[in-house]
Amino acid sequence: MLPMNDVLGYHGRNVIVTGAASGMGSACAAILHDLGARVIGLDINEAGSNVDVYTRVDLRDTDSIAAAANTIAAPIHALFSCAGLPGPPFSDIDVMLVNFVGARQLIEALVPKMPGGSAIAWIASMGGLGWQEQLSNLLPFVQTPDFATGRSWCESHPDVIGPSAYAFSKQAINAWVAWRSYSLVRDGIRLNCLNPGPTDTPMMPYFEDGMGKDFMDNFPRPIGRNASPEEQAWPLVMLNSPRCSYVAGEAFHVDGGFLAAMTTGQLDFSALATADPTPEGPG
Ligand SMILES: NC(=O)c1ccc[n+]([C@@H]2O[C@H](COP(=O)([O-])OP(=O)(O)OC[C@H]3O[C@@H](n4cnc5c(N)ncnc54)[C@H](O)[C@@H]3O)[C@@H](O)[C@H]2O)c1
Repeated sequence: MLPMNDVLGYHGRNVIVTGAASGMGSACAAILHDLGARVIGLDINEAGSNVDVYTRVDLRDTDSIAAAANTIAAPIHALFSCAGLPGPPFSDIDVMLVNFVGARQLIEALVPKMPGGSAIAWIASMGGLGWQEQLSNLLPFVQTPDFATGRSWCESHPDVIGPSAYAFSKQAINAWVAWRSYSLVRDGIRLNCLNPGPTDTPMMPYFEDGMGKDFMDNFPRPIGRNASPEEQAWPLVMLNSPRCSYVAGEAFHVDGGFLAAMTTGQLDFSALATADPTPEGPG
């Protein structure tokens, strides 16, 4: 039974946060630190004082991922996979490696150090909406066994990944979580993902450059604004808490009501008609 003075059950727990140097990952690390966890932050850039230990990792590089995973001792109670790239100006292959192939290698390398009752939460995006209709393309990719085969699948399927590697990488996260959560939960490890709507982090200017400021400004937001990084980090912290002990294989939409309003036909996209349309939407 968790005491109410450790309401989310993180006190004294070992947690890993990738992308801890910036945005949602940094917000997540700060919250976990304040909740009494021992935070190991992984990023290509140095993380700040919200982590107890910083370990450099380049998620494009299989050796770097293996080396980082080797430095981390068991037990790991919660893993937050927050690192990501936005799309252009980064290459499609770098986007696929950082957002899916490398992140998945890191997760799989750490799973053997995670005891029953632990949990993994991975940030995807509302940019991955519609992944269920893409399963015939996504399942062969997400079931590739390792970094090398995942990378080679990306290199040999540029037409499937296009027109947006960002959207495809985020669909892949949703598909992998749906597929892999079944085997993990039988070992007592919960796996879920978060699909954020547009969020004010250092990534946002890349979306504005890539899709056009008008497109981003006119994109319907039922709640009337972007999220803050903390408004994404708290639901992520909740997902990995033992308080969510029956939540597994879930895609949690933290989008200010966007998906619900879109599904029920209440959103007006006409203002986007003059803007440059993209298939995935912002974020
Ligand atoms: N900002 C949004 O509107 C939005 C919306 C939906 C989803 N997301 C997703 O949320 C996650 C967090 O993004 P953010 O908005 O906080 O952006 P951010 O740019 O602030 O943070 C991304 C982090 O990933 C790290 N990173 C980049 N390349 C790396 C590499 N090769 N190896 C290791 N780390 C690397 C960066 O150093 C940075 O700390 C990402 O997966 C992003 O795709 C963002």
